Amino acid sequence: MAFGKGSDLISISDLEKKEIEAVFARAKKFEDAVKAGKVKRTLEGRVVASLFFEASTRTRLSSASAANHLGARVIGFSGIEGTSVQKGETLSDTIEMVDKYIDAIFIRHPLDGAARLAAEVAKHPVINCGDGSNQHPTQTLLDLYTMRKEFGRIDGLEIALVGDLKYGRTVHSLALALNHYKVRLKFVSHPSLKMPDYIRKEVSNPVAETERLDIGKCDVVYVTRIQKERFSDLMEYERVKGIYKITPGVLEGAKKGSIVMHPLPRVDEISRTVDATPNARYFQQAGNGLFIRMAVLDAVMNG
Ligand code: CP
Repeated sequence: MAFGKGSDLISISDLEKKEIEAVFARAKKFEDAVKAGKVKRTLEGRVVASLFFEASTRTRLSSASAANHLGARVIGFSGIEGTSVQKGETLSDTIEMVDKYIDAIFIRHPLDGAARLAAEVAKHPVINCGDGSNQHPTQTLLDLYTMRKEFGRIDGLEIALVGDLKYGRTVHSLALALNHYKVRLKFVSHPSLKMPDYIRKEVSNPVAETERLDIGKCDVVYVTRIQKERFSDLMEYERVKGIYKITPGVLEGAKKGSIVMHPLPRVDEISRTVDATPNARYFQQAGNGLFIRMAVLDAVMNG
C-alpha cells in the first residue's frame, strides 16, 4: 500500500523516494503555515495517542505539538508509571485497548520491533517514534529535510556519521534512507561501536569506515550520543564514552559551509561553545521535527 491514509510508519525502508519527497513538500507547506499562523485544523475532532514507554523530549513534544496544531487532541503517557504495564499488561494488550480510544498512535519503546508489533495489533495508523536500537523514521525524515533545506539538495553530499553507530537508531534509519540519494558516507566510531553488519550490507552508497575524527571533506557531520542505556556492560560504556568531542578547534579543520547535526540529546560529544559557531544546526534540526511530524500525521490520517 502506498504511504498515505491508514498507513503505518515503522521503518524508513517502508517509504519510497517519491513518498519521502512528498513528506518534505507537505512539511514545507506546514512550515510556511505555522510561521504565518495559518494552519488548517485538518484533524479537528480526532484523538491521537502518545505512548512513550521510554524517555523523550523532542519527539514526544513535537509529535504532540503537531497533533495540536492540526486540531487533534492528545492522550497518552510518558513513562510506564501509573499505567497497567506495571501490573504486567503486555504491549499487545495495551495497544489492543488504546486502539479503541484513538485515531492514530505515536509510540516509543525500548525494545526493537515493538512498533511493528503495535502496528500489527492496531487498526489505526502507528508511527514509530523510536524502537530500541532499531529505527527512528520520523527523525530520519527531519534529518533529510534539514540537509535539503541547508544545501538545496542531498545528492552529492559527503556525510560523516559519528559516535555510537552500533546502538544509535537514528543513524541506522539515516544510513538506509540515504540509499535514495547519491552521497558519500564516512562511518566514524570506536571499533566496538561500528555500524552493525545487517545495516552495513544494505547501504548502497560508498562508505569509508574509520576511528579517526577526520571530517575535513564532509558537508554534514552527524554526531550521536553514546547510548549508555543500551549497554549491558557499563564498564564497556566507561571505556568508550567521550571518545569524540566536537569543539570549535575541531571545526577549524572542517569544510567551509559544513554543518554539525545531532538528533539530541547531547551529553558531551558537542561542546557548548560550538553552539555559537556557524556550523551548528542541531537546534534548527530539532525544530524541523514539528513540520515533519505534522506532515506524517496528516498523511496517515487524511491521505
Ligand atoms: N532525537 C530524539 O529522539 O530526541 P528525544 O529522545 O528527546 O525524543
